[in-house]
Amino acid sequence: MNNIAILCSGGDVSGMNPALKHFVEYSIENNLTPYFVFDGYEGLIDNQITKATYKDISGIIARGGTKIGSARSSRFMEKKFRSLAKQNLDKLEIKKLIVLGGDGSFRGLDIFYKEHGISFCGIPSTIDNDINMTEYCLGVDTALNIIKNAIDSIRDTASSFKRAFVIETMGRKCGYLAQISHITSGSELCLIPEIKHDLKNYEDKFRKELENGRRYFIAIVAEGINEDSSEIAQWFQKSIGIEARVTILGHTQRGGNPSVYDRLMAYKFINYAIDALVEGKEESIVCYSQGGFVYKSIEEVVSHKKILELLI
Ligand code: F6P
Repeated sequence: MNNIAILCSGGDVSGMNPALKHFVEYSIENNLTPYFVFDGYEGLIDNQITKATYKDISGIIARGGTKIGSARSSRFMEKKFRSLAKQNLDKLEIKKLIVLGGDGSFRGLDIFYKEHGISFCGIPSTIDNDINMTEYCLGVDTALNIIKNAIDSIRDTASSFKRAFVIETMGRKCGYLAQISHITSGSELCLIPEIKHDLKNYEDKFRKELENGRRYFIAIVAEGINEDSSEIAQWFQKSIGIEARVTILGHTQRGGNPSVYDRLMAYKFINYAIDALVEGKEESIVCYSQGGFVYKSIEEVVSHKKILELLI
């Protein structure tokens, strides 16, 4: 028996479905029998594990989200449920596991590996792009394109109406999405948790620009900063003197048709993950660094917080 399973854990991303498609194809190519685990670690505990076939993956490459569901499992943090999960894998003689998720999901996996020794390979998947050791996490490009489209649309109405727009992006405590969106959308202001800010520093410049005929401001604000986006909007109204509105992009950033780049990265991540398990690597995370793929140990990945490269 040469069985391999895959699951998605934590916040879903666009790119998971293309990864699932290629997982089935590349497993079969490598004489492995592919299995899907539904709803993340919850499905491992509840034995929601089924053999996957070509039929299951038909047409999913173009869809966001994940066909097999995802979850954040608090039960998996308990030893008794991890034992149950191992028993379920044993029943199906599954000895290899691929996990698409963020560093929280990898931490759970690390404990599982240390207790039960199942070989695994992790694929960094989170729109937050906040995983140490990898420059890219699956789903980021699609999220950035969704943000770009939203900002472009908002600019149309902002300029027509002479308003400031505060656009809030996701990312937890990481400002990656906001920083890249700011640079690639040419917004006037970007606030991220990694850079301390004092709004007073922008006041003279923004007021002068308004006097000189500027019709709108776009501010990209990461969800992890200390203020609420509504406070930034109030500041625009009171201190700069322009009507302001807030758009919280929220979960729109997590869905949508996967971009070409995410489909391609999904393909490559899966190739590297399956290759690692076939070659006998027992515990690795596939990371993307300096234009190529490298394997990192789970320790290296989860032991440090990622430091955002500041470009602004
Ligand atoms: O980690 C991905 C993420 O989308 C974060 O950017 C966001 O803060 C969080 O998940 C939202 O979580 P939930 O989907 O549970 O509301």
